[in-house]
Amino acid sequence: MVRNVAGLLPELEEEDFYLLSGVEQGMRFSEWVQREKLPKFSSLTEEEVDYRLERCLKRGLVEKKTIQYEGYTLQFEGYDILALRALVEQDTISEFGSPLGVGKESDVYEVRSYKPLALKYHREGYTNFREVHKERDYTSDNDHVSWMYTARKAAEREHGILEELYPDVSVPRPIGQNRHAIVMEKMDGVELSQTRLEDEQILGVLDLLVSEIARAYEHGYVHADMSEYNVFVSEDGIKIFDWPQAVPTDHENASEFLRRDLTNIIGYFRRKYPQHIPDDIESDDVAESIAANSFETVTDTV
Ligand SMILES: Nc1ncnc2c1ncn2[C@@H]1O[C@H](COP(=O)(O)OP(=O)(O)OP(=O)(O)O)[C@@H](O)[C@H]1O
Ligand SMILES: [Mg+2]
Repeated sequence: MVRNVAGLLPELEEEDFYLLSGVEQGMRFSEWVQREKLPKFSSLTEEEVDYRLERCLKRGLVEKKTIQYEGYTLQFEGYDILALRALVEQDTISEFGSPLGVGKESDVYEVRSYKPLALKYHREGYTNFREVHKERDYTSDNDHVSWMYTARKAAEREHGILEELYPDVSVPRPIGQNRHAIVMEKMDGVELSQTRLEDEQILGVLDLLVSEIARAYEHGYVHADMSEYNVFVSEDGIKIFDWPQAVPTDHENASEFLRRDLTNIIGYFRRKYPQHIPDDIESDDVAESIAANSFETVTDTV
C-alpha cells in the first residue's frame, strides 16, 4: 500500500519539488536516474541536490540503488506528492481528508475545495512493474515503460471519458487531473453491492442503471467493467464510476463488452432479488436493443 503523503506537504520546500521533478524527468529515459544527471534535470547545484536527495530519501519519496552507478527513482509517494502539489497550486483542491476507497489499482481520498471532492490516484502498472523489474539489471532500460506512464495514461483516459460523458450520463463530475491523479465530485450514497433495495425499488433501479449504460453507449462508450462495485446508489438516483478501461463503441470487442456488462448487472440483480427479476429478461436481448439505439426499459425487451 502506498502511504498517504498529504501530511508531508507543509514541511516540503520549493527545492524539494525541483529535485522530485528532476527525478521524474530523468525517469522518462530510464527507471534509475544517474546521480550526476540530477543537477541538470532539477536545475539545482550539486550541493543542493545532495541536500534535497537526503530530505526526500528520509521521507520515502525517492529510492536509491547503487550497482553500476548511483541511481535514484521516484517512489509512488514521490509521484503522489508531485501531483498533489500541482492540484493545490492550481486551486483544484485545498484540503485533504480521509480515504474513501483503497483498491488494487487505485487509492481514493476525500479532498475539499469549496465542497467535498474525491481524489483518485491511479496505480495501474505498479504491482506488475515492481515484480517484473525487481531482479532486472537496471542499465538495460531500452524497453523502459514505467508504472508512472501507465498510471498517468489511465488517469488521462478516465478523466477524458468523464468529460465526454458528464452531465448527459450519470457519472461523477470531473474537476481536474494531474499526472496519475484525477479529481472529481464526491458521490453521495453507497455502493450498489452494499445496499438492500426495497421491493418496489428493485426493477426501477435496474432500469435506471441499464438506461445509463444505454446513454453511455449513445455517447460512444462501453464501460467494460460494470458490476455492483462500480455503481453508487443514493436518494437522487445512481452513478456509474471507474471508467479508465472503457472502450469506444467502435472498438472491435465493444459488443462483447456490452453483453458482459449487462450479464454482470442483470445477473447480480437476479441473484440478489430472485423473486423480482422476470425470467425472460435476457442480457443479450438488452444488449441488442442498446446497440440498435432502441432501448426503452428492461421490461420492454422481453
Ligand atoms: N467520486 C467518488 N466519490 C466517492 N467515493 C468514490 C469516488 N470514486 C471512488 N470512490 C470510492 O473508491 C472506491 C474505488 O474507486 P474505483 O472503483 O474508481 O477504483 P478501482 O481502481 O476500481 O478500485 P478497485 O480496484 O478497488 O475496484 C470505490 O469503490 C468507491 O467506494
Ligand atoms: Mg472499482
